[in-house]
Amino acid sequence: MALVSRRTVIGTGLSLAALGGIGYGFWPRMDGYRKEVARQRQLLSADPELTDLVRMATLAANGHNTQPWRFRLEDQRISILPDLTRRTEVVDPDDHHLYVSLGCAAENLALAAAAAGRAAEIAVEDEDETRIDINLAAAAPVAGTLYEAIPLRQSTRSLYDGQPVSAEDMRLLEAAAKEDGVSVQLITNVGKRDEIIDFVIAGNSAQMDDPAFVQELRDWLRFSPSRAVAEGDGLFSACAGNPVAPDWIGGYLFDAFFQKEAENQKYVDQIRSSAGIAVFVADQADPEHWIKVGRSFERFALQATALGIRNAHLNQPTEALSVRLAFAAWLGMPEARPDLVIRFGRAPTMPMSLRRPVNEVIV
Ligand SMILES: Cc1cc2nc3c(=O)[nH]c(=O)nc-3n(C[C@H](O)[C@H](O)[C@H](O)COP(=O)(O)O)c2cc1C
Repeated sequence: MALVSRRTVIGTGLSLAALGGIGYGFWPRMDGYRKEVARQRQLLSADPELTDLVRMATLAANGHNTQPWRFRLEDQRISILPDLTRRTEVVDPDDHHLYVSLGCAAENLALAAAAAGRAAEIAVEDEDETRIDINLAAAAPVAGTLYEAIPLRQSTRSLYDGQPVSAEDMRLLEAAAKEDGVSVQLITNVGKRDEIIDFVIAGNSAQMDDPAFVQELRDWLRFSPSRAVAEGDGLFSACAGNPVAPDWIGGYLFDAFFQKEAENQKYVDQIRSSAGIAVFVADQADPEHWIKVGRSFERFALQATALGIRNAHLNQPTEALSVRLAFAAWLGMPEARPDLVIRFGRAPTMPMSLRRPVNEVIV
């Protein structure tokens, strides 16, 4: 018989994060994981190959860390193709996040190419399937701050310090995110910021009440560092401040402690600790525009990283359809499909996520 009933656990408001203390110190060691992170997250070496540009592309943000991309290499061109075997059909039934993720990767690739002395021109092609062609031409190398932030960018799912971001930093974030066809609202007014809480909680509650959503999320969780390294994908516990554990124990902890009330409270605290929330909305709802959203968001996240500002996704208001419609109306854009909701602020970094080997994503 269980020592603690599920109701008692809900009542205590415990979350997985509360168990963090048992994760470190004994059982799974993080050394191998950290070594692999350090190996993957490096800037380009001198005279890089196209495969090195692909490695930089794969360090981009991507939904559930599924890495839903394939890369085709030609002499003067790299194409990014969707990997539909890596869809997350419950949380992302129309492949919105999948194409946003491809846009994030394209942006990293273009920045890395520029640093390597290849000017990149990005074109979206829509033949049998939507793909991104990145055409490369010789140019003087340009290694700017966004390029240098590529290995350091992360989704930081912790409490932030509650302090505002300076007007100058806000201006830089806004400039970085600028993209034709995408509007970005930067919400820093505390009252407005807190109104978003209701949408996050409504969306999160609907998702946590859906067993298919919870199962899909669980399938992409990695509780032990050894499994995270072996798979090279998915959401590793430590990256979200949760305890690492042998995988079977991690699954048990997840089932016991992943509870709606505790998760909702976590989001309330996280939002209230943030300096603001950025909402990305494209002019149209199609893969070409979702790729633009990805490019815009990735530049925003890299600029934030360069300034020591963290960010994390709160996309629940854009995922559940009924909540999305109400959220669009609240934004004053009732016809639009809001794309991304991102909180930002200052905080220490968390452990970095891993990627699959480059040769597994080249076709
Ligand atoms: C389109 C998209 C949707 C995402 N949705 C969420 C989300 O709802 N919640 C979350 O915590 N992270 C979300 N993320 C962040 C990814 O989980 C994260 O990028 C991935 O795990 C890799 O980790 P990294 O960003 O630290 O490199 C999203 C990222 C993208 C690009």
